[in-house]
Amino acid sequence: MKIVVLAGGFSPEREVSLSSGAMITNALIRTGHEVYLLDSYLGAADGEEVRFKSLHDGTGFFWEIGREVPELDRLSKERNGKGYIGNRVIEICGLADIVFVALHGGAGENGQIQAVLDAYGISYTGTGYEGCLKAMDKPMAKLLMRNSGIPTPDWRLYSRGESLEPFPYPCVVKPCGCGSSVGITMVEGEDQWEMALDSAFSYEDRVLAEVKITGREFSVGILGERALPAIEIIPKKGFYDYENKYQAGLTEEICPASLTEEQEEFMGCMALKVHRVLGLGYYSRVDFLMEEDGSLFCLEANTLPGMTPFSLLPQKAQAAGISYQELCEEIVSHGIH
Ligand code: DAL
Ligand code: MG
Repeated sequence: MKIVVLAGGFSPEREVSLSSGAMITNALIRTGHEVYLLDSYLGAADGEEVRFKSLHDGTGFFWEIGREVPELDRLSKERNGKGYIGNRVIEICGLADIVFVALHGGAGENGQIQAVLDAYGISYTGTGYEGCLKAMDKPMAKLLMRNSGIPTPDWRLYSRGESLEPFPYPCVVKPCGCGSSVGITMVEGEDQWEMALDSAFSYEDRVLAEVKITGREFSVGILGERALPAIEIIPKKGFYDYENKYQAGLTEEICPASLTEEQEEFMGCMALKVHRVLGLGYYSRVDFLMEEDGSLFCLEANTLPGMTPFSLLPQKAQAAGISYQELCEEIVSHGIH
């Protein structure tokens, strides 16, 4: 098959996406596909050349960024979530049998790029635009979960320019549509409130504050109609923030998690329910917190879970006997056509 792996883009998770994209590309090449890794940043100006060149060192393909993107930080802030995808990107995607969406955050995960691919009749992997839209908008996802009886920490939505009356402490402040813990602050008291809001508002105009749940952190992968073994996440210091997510050795990840059979089954069922309530596609990753008394709260579902060397979904698949290569192949073979 001819496959375009769409990665990069403008969101604050650009680097994570490039890492996922490179891993997926290598895996699919090894399976025998003809694969092109495409940076959706190309959409910034029609006619720009592909920024990656492929290298072959005898063991596989690697990808090198061709040149620095001028003022990428500023552009990324300006365009984050604005759904920009240029003609050149569409043109290249249209040449493939399927697009593997390896974008994270912003327009790549909130349904905008999926809607454009739909409009052009281009097949792609994962979740359709509607599911992406519901899952990536955290307040909307939480409302849908609560209305379906799925416990999620209480929250309040804050919009830039409106009343910013503090939420009870301790709480967690986060931008409504970011991933990888970008812009998140744990607020323990009044002195941290303003700073937490400023940090979250620097990414988006809508910000969420939710009750801070203290307890164990878990994550469950969904592949097809099955829940993969749960993983427990134990950061050595602080919470599971960007650094603890992507720097080797900073977090202990236990998979399969130490849970009773009953707890594992309950969590798997709840993850599947979240996946269905939000209308997600072939795969997702659902994140939970468990209080000491066993009460379980769903934080969110990720429609495009990370596929980097540090990411959780590949580890869960591995625990279920599915290699990284098989995982990618399975996702491709269940794309949206
Ligand atoms: N948003 C990151 C990539 C994740 O959920 O894994
Ligand atoms: Mg997330």
